[in-house]
Amino acid sequence: MHSLEISDLITAVDPRTGHRLPVQRAEVIRRLRESGDERAARIVAGLPAGPDGVLDPDAVDRLLIGVHTELQRLSEELRIGERLVQLLGPVFTAIRETDGRQGGPYRLVDVGCGLGYLVRWLAATHALGADVELVGVDLDAALVGEAGHLARAEGLNCRFVHGNAFDLPQAATVYVSTGVLHHFRGPALAEFFQTQAASPAQAFCHFDIAATRLAPIGAWIFHRARMRHPLGRHDGVVSAQRAHSDETLLSAAAAPGIRPLLYEPRGAANPFCTTLRPVIGVRPHLEAPLRRALGRSARRLVGPEHLTEANR
Ligand SMILES: C[S@@+](CC[C@H](N)C(=O)[O-])C[C@H]1O[C@@H](n2cnc3c(N)ncnc32)[C@H](O)[C@@H]1O
Repeated sequence: MHSLEISDLITAVDPRTGHRLPVQRAEVIRRLRESGDERAARIVAGLPAGPDGVLDPDAVDRLLIGVHTELQRLSEELRIGERLVQLLGPVFTAIRETDGRQGGPYRLVDVGCGLGYLVRWLAATHALGADVELVGVDLDAALVGEAGHLARAEGLNCRFVHGNAFDLPQAATVYVSTGVLHHFRGPALAEFFQTQAASPAQAFCHFDIAATRLAPIGAWIFHRARMRHPLGRHDGVVSAQRAHSDETLLSAAAAPGIRPLLYEPRGAANPFCTTLRPVIGVRPHLEAPLRRALGRSARRLVGPEHLTEANR
């Protein structure tokens, strides 16, 4: 199984300063070959580099913006915005209901927002209400810069910030993300959730590819049909192969002070329809009001105890 996404390897930033670092094309090719992915190595060998062997940063930025634009089309087709609001609406209802501060303002932070499709969609539809500030954050300057351009061109009331989503000067009320979780491997996945649990945030809701048996073939068909650049097609399939299982997500999200929940766990979901689904974390006092606000859909929300029972 191929385990590396090209887009994770062709850019690098200094974690302290956020400054871009040079990336040697030969080094990326070596890592991909070592992982047994000759096809990915050939794709990278075709990317432009300078005489010093460093990948051309402008060409890399243009490529990643192009691939994320195609990814945005997939998000539109899969109606990711609507599906997020089905959950985020009730999450904010529960927060408002239990909030001693009597009504906002609240802040939604999209971690790893890329081109900011989700935040721009929420701003354009006013789906969460005027008391929710919308912020997209990404470590990649080119992607988040483009998100800002698009939002200004569309006249939207939202903001985009270059940097680490967990280093913002103002606290988030709710963290969200789409397609980011599978990039965190090993201990980094639990650290991702622990950071949010240790913050003043009330909840998180992270959508990622559902690890069904159909996911890799479904991703292949989707990306083949909808994406032109080989990098996008390659990474789309690898991301489905790297999707975390229900068990892994629920145990990683079980940080102190957080009730971890999964919406539409594997057994309860139709694998032909479920492409992305969220792992949710709420402060424990929010679970009951969240279930009330979800109504009948609350049946699809399960905690770690559901998986233990299912395994018996
Ligand atoms: C697959 S990409 C973008 C996905 C985007 N949400 C979408 O649906 O198109 C994942 C992004 O997460 C960003 N990222 C990862 N950890 C981050 C963090 N702590 N803060 C901000 N951005 C982060 C990376 O820079 C990368 O651009």
